[in-house]
Amino acid sequence: MSENRIAVGLDIGTSEIRVAIGEYDENGKIQIAGTASKKSAGLRNGVIVNIEDAKAAIEEAISAAEMNAGINVNSVITAIGGSQIESATHKGGVAVNPNGRNNKEITNDDVERVIANATAVPVPEDREKLHVIPRDYIVDGYHGISDPIHRIGTRLEVEVHIVTAARTIIQNMRSTISRAGYILDGVMLKTLAQTFSVCHEDEMELGSILIDLGAGTTDVIVLVGGAPVSTASVPVGGNLVTNDISIVTGISSATAEEKKIEAGCCWLPLINEQNDKEVVLPGVGGRAPEVIMKSQLCQIIQARMEQIFTMVKATIIKNTDDSIKKLSGNIILTGGGAQMEGVIELAQNVFRTSSVRLGCPENLGGIEEDYRNPAFATVIGLVLASKNMPASKDSRKKHRSFADRKEKKDGEGVLKKIFKSLF
Ligand SMILES: Nc1ncnc2c1ncn2[C@@H]1O[C@H](COP(=O)(O)OP(=O)(O)O)[C@@H](O)[C@H]1O
Ligand SMILES: [Mg+2]
Repeated sequence: MSENRIAVGLDIGTSEIRVAIGEYDENGKIQIAGTASKKSAGLRNGVIVNIEDAKAAIEEAISAAEMNAGINVNSVITAIGGSQIESATHKGGVAVNPNGRNNKEITNDDVERVIANATAVPVPEDREKLHVIPRDYIVDGYHGISDPIHRIGTRLEVEVHIVTAARTIIQNMRSTISRAGYILDGVMLKTLAQTFSVCHEDEMELGSILIDLGAGTTDVIVLVGGAPVSTASVPVGGNLVTNDISIVTGISSATAEEKKIEAGCCWLPLINEQNDKEVVLPGVGGRAPEVIMKSQLCQIIQARMEQIFTMVKATIIKNTDDSIKKLSGNIILTGGGAQMEGVIELAQNVFRTSSVRLGCPENLGGIEEDYRNPAFATVIGLVLASKNMPASKDSRKKHRSFADRKEKKDGEGVLKKIFKSLF
């Protein structure tokens, strides 16, 4: 029996744990063989706070995906986001022509040296480098070179985007996954993983913002010229919206969550006399059920969602230099919260642009209804990102983050540009 290579994405979310098992065919084409989504446990705002609970939830989710796919899983790739992520752009430069010969072609060795030079920044003991992504190569002062190899020049510079995460958070993920019986093959920035499943190369080249609307946090990545320029996370998300509904209407959080998903909308102009409807709120403790209009529910939701988007916008402006002015791609909304009715319209209004779209994984075979949903952007993205990873056998010896992997030297294009530095 031939053994196809498999890749497993694991998204340890605040509200849900999701798994996608991808299987490569002989031609290297990936198919989604099985997925699963189970209620999360032991997490707060994207961070594991109870290892035993998280372990049990992870085990349950992976087992369910194994059953769906009919495949046994050994190792997984996971994603990390939230406030424990920091990223910054650093610059480095080297002389291409150390021997004094003129018109020297830039070689791979020069590229490796310049990246080493740019990344020779000290990382605090308590942080781990997750990604080192070359953003822009500069040859003799000329910017915007995506691949400098074979160019003639005397001085090579590079701007690299370095993403780091708190070491203890990654250690906790490793040990939780290991206790659940699986090997951790790699850790990827969550929003970066999502770009693989929901972003198009042209929009990342033109400059785009991906916003992940999660339960506990809302995470952002800004991409210009096909590579990240900044990342951010605000510690607010869909849970807060649910909480508002629960407080204002006096129902339990569980019911508020249910009503939000069933009838929630975050853009009032979408509701008119014809489509406004009654939403029945069950009575608590023997109280008679109450009725609230969808438009009233919308006002509660819109206020909070508008605040979340406004915070995201302010954070992006604060974290991103002038390059933000060059964004002419899209704002891509993804994550579970992107399923809310009116979310596109609200974002268009807050960000003052019509270029807003939903980020949903595309069909990759298998049972597509199971994963063609913005909530699956992370796990599907992890599976797609795995294409550029070495097969997992050798990584069994040692758990590493992507930044530790050997650089791949072949290939071009925007995604490859990101990957070049990842492995
Ligand atoms: N149909 C829906 N409409 C509005 N919000 C939704 C819907 N489905 C899920 N959500 C919200 O999305 C959030 C969960 O998104 P998800 O990406 O799964 O979060 P996490 O990764 O943080 O666990 C929750 O706040 C949930 O209420
Ligand atoms: Mg999520």
